[in-house]
Amino acid sequence: MNKERLVIFDTTLRDGEQSPGASMTREEKVRIARILERMRVDVIEAGFPAASAGDFESVKSVAQSIDDSIVCGLARAVQGDIDRAAAAVQPARASRIHTFIATSPIHMKSKLRMKPEEVLNQAKWAVEYARRFTDDVEFSPEDAGRSDVDFLCRVVEAVISAGATTINIPDTVGYSMPSQFGETVRQIMERVPNSDKAVFSVHCHNDLGLAVANSLAAVLNGARQVECTINGLGERAGNAALEEIVMAVRTRQDVFPCDTALDTTQIVPASRVVSGITGFPVQPNKAIVGANAFAHESGIHQDGVIKKRETYEIMRAEDVGWSANRMVLGKHSGRNAFKTRLREIGIDLESEEELNSAFARFKDLADKKHDIFDEDLQALITEEAMKSVEERYRLVTLHVCSQTGETPEARVTLAVDGDELSAIAIGGGPVDASFKAIESIAASGAQLQLYSVSNITSGTDAQGEVTVRLEKGGRIVNGHGADTDIVIASAKSYLMALNKLATRVERRHPQKSQPI
Ligand code: KIV
Ligand code: ZN
Repeated sequence: MNKERLVIFDTTLRDGEQSPGASMTREEKVRIARILERMRVDVIEAGFPAASAGDFESVKSVAQSIDDSIVCGLARAVQGDIDRAAAAVQPARASRIHTFIATSPIHMKSKLRMKPEEVLNQAKWAVEYARRFTDDVEFSPEDAGRSDVDFLCRVVEAVISAGATTINIPDTVGYSMPSQFGETVRQIMERVPNSDKAVFSVHCHNDLGLAVANSLAAVLNGARQVECTINGLGERAGNAALEEIVMAVRTRQDVFPCDTALDTTQIVPASRVVSGITGFPVQPNKAIVGANAFAHESGIHQDGVIKKRETYEIMRAEDVGWSANRMVLGKHSGRNAFKTRLREIGIDLESEEELNSAFARFKDLADKKHDIFDEDLQALITEEAMKSVEERYRLVTLHVCSQTGETPEARVTLAVDGDELSAIAIGGGPVDASFKAIESIAASGAQLQLYSVSNITSGTDAQGEVTVRLEKGGRIVNGHGADTDIVIASAKSYLMALNKLATRVERRHPQKSQPI
């Protein structure tokens, strides 16, 4: 029996980027979009073009780079936003405009200050207007989870008549319960007379930890598109995690009447790249993509798995992209082996120059570390990609002195706009001393919001991956660095964050500052 298609709409680059501290550069977005395309994601929501010139350019670049997935731009239900979204996605081979307006009593009254009839008319108008640019228009009644179902049915019927081809029901604040949310979707689909003219979609937030459960309940009640993000990134507690949705549906084909077209072996590489770029680590016990997702600690479980894998494993690790043969390269590996392995783990470097520079860094790493694993390659390429950020500050040398009974001291030399400057500082530990020395040169005044270290692979020669989050004047940036020496990784990470702060960006979120 042929199963129906469940459309996967990834919004890592839009809602995912709305996680505080997760902002991505244009190059980073294109890199993630290429991985999503390789994974065979159906729709990539590339951003909110009216939010800023930078967002517009990012969506346009994604639209220019992607062939196989539909590229979507978000727009409030106003002409200016729809014009910007249409222009940004115009270069795509297949494009979608996603327009939204809130329908819950609290949003209409307190945020939009509009009457329900005005909202309904605005929604209809916006869809009609968006249809001038593309046949593929999605409409979302924002905060549907707290909207009146009778009113939702009227709005949905009107926007389908106006030409909406996808109706997305968002649980914007993560308030719904699975049985209730599934029932809402079922009722709308049943009661709206023209519901067969559109694909029904859901977009669930995770404030109560129910985003995946709510999305799956909606699928069981007729939804055929799910909006989700890699690693569940997104506004506040995040969105439904793509990897969990896709694997739940794939693993429980006895329950679901539909399936996705995704190449699930790309899931773990995509998760690593998104985590590396955003600096949001994946918790070890995270389903599917956490380091422990397929690890068995108890003797009884290990014994069971050795005798028959299915005793304790419901999925195969290799099916989601955990590679069985994890050791890949070493000091004697050549450029060709390096390039081939990168390709196998989903990384295509664009130019020879990028490849040469990455290969030189790989050789440096192989001098310090005997076995180079896929995770090391991912970290190395992420760092390489980050070089696209203008480098105002560059680490020239770092010398730290730390011994029992003595106060740790760091001596650092930075190249700042081409001039070499040095400073010495003491601190509670070598990392603290290094950051103080860097700050005494940069005098950025930024506040350290987060410092985290994790080992990329196992063993004492493993690279440490450091994330530093800095805040200045309300702007939050992440820096990350990897090195076999965690003090150097920390300094690199701090400097990357400083370089991001030094890069001028124009960014505003009309969604937050202006109503409609
Ligand atoms: O959460 C939400 O309601 C949204 C909409 C724009 C779909 O992100
Ligand atoms: Zn959302």
